[in-house]
Amino acid sequence: MYRLLYPMRTYLIVSGRLGEEVNIMAADWVTVLSFRPEIVGVAVSPRRYTHRLIEKYGEFVVAVPSVGMLKDVWIAGTESGPQKLGKMRITLVKSTRVLTPSIKEALANIECKVVDKRTYGDHTLFVGEVVSATHDPRAYPNGEPAPSAAGFLAHVSWSRFVTFRDEIIDAEHEGGE
Ligand SMILES: Cc1cc2nc3c(=O)[nH]c(=O)nc-3n(C[C@H](O)[C@H](O)[C@H](O)COP(=O)(O)O)c2cc1C
Repeated sequence: MYRLLYPMRTYLIVSGRLGEEVNIMAADWVTVLSFRPEIVGVAVSPRRYTHRLIEKYGEFVVAVPSVGMLKDVWIAGTESGPQKLGKMRITLVKSTRVLTPSIKEALANIECKVVDKRTYGDHTLFVGEVVSATHDPRAYPNGEPAPSAAGFLAHVSWSRFVTFRDEIIDAEHEGGE
């Protein structure tokens, strides 16, 4: 069934601490849960190394990858444990309000502190209050996403992904544009 909700955007979840243990996994199951305060949720299987690190440090960063980062997304989503970072071409940098690092190459990094967690079936929903967020202004000119310029990434199935074009359809204007 869940594939009927696809394509879904794919994100990278950073967990842990620079210089100690740090990890990155791919995640489709990320959602906004509240506007004020800003709260997001991510469903993580207890089998993931990431699960252990989010439990341990109570923080995570949701990084927004571009289509140019697809190889790294794939490594993050198919290999388990921090040793995969050695194969990835990403740069971890200090975040602004959490000790979990951000990804320099990402289009945006959303820094979260865990405020709740709950198990649903075979995943844990980690609920995080957004304490800070940074973004590449070229990907979000005037604060709005520029789909094709940014190369936002969405997942179709297994190893198949799609990206977006700037064919904006405006619901307030009949027939689009
Ligand atoms: C595109 C993509 C999306 C994924 N989404 C999720 C997800 O939302 N939740 C989850 O628990 N695992 C998800 N996975 C699987 C994890 O990324 C994968 O098991 C990864 O190896 C876990 O890494 P870790 O054990 O180092 O934390 C996804 C994998 C891919 C390729």
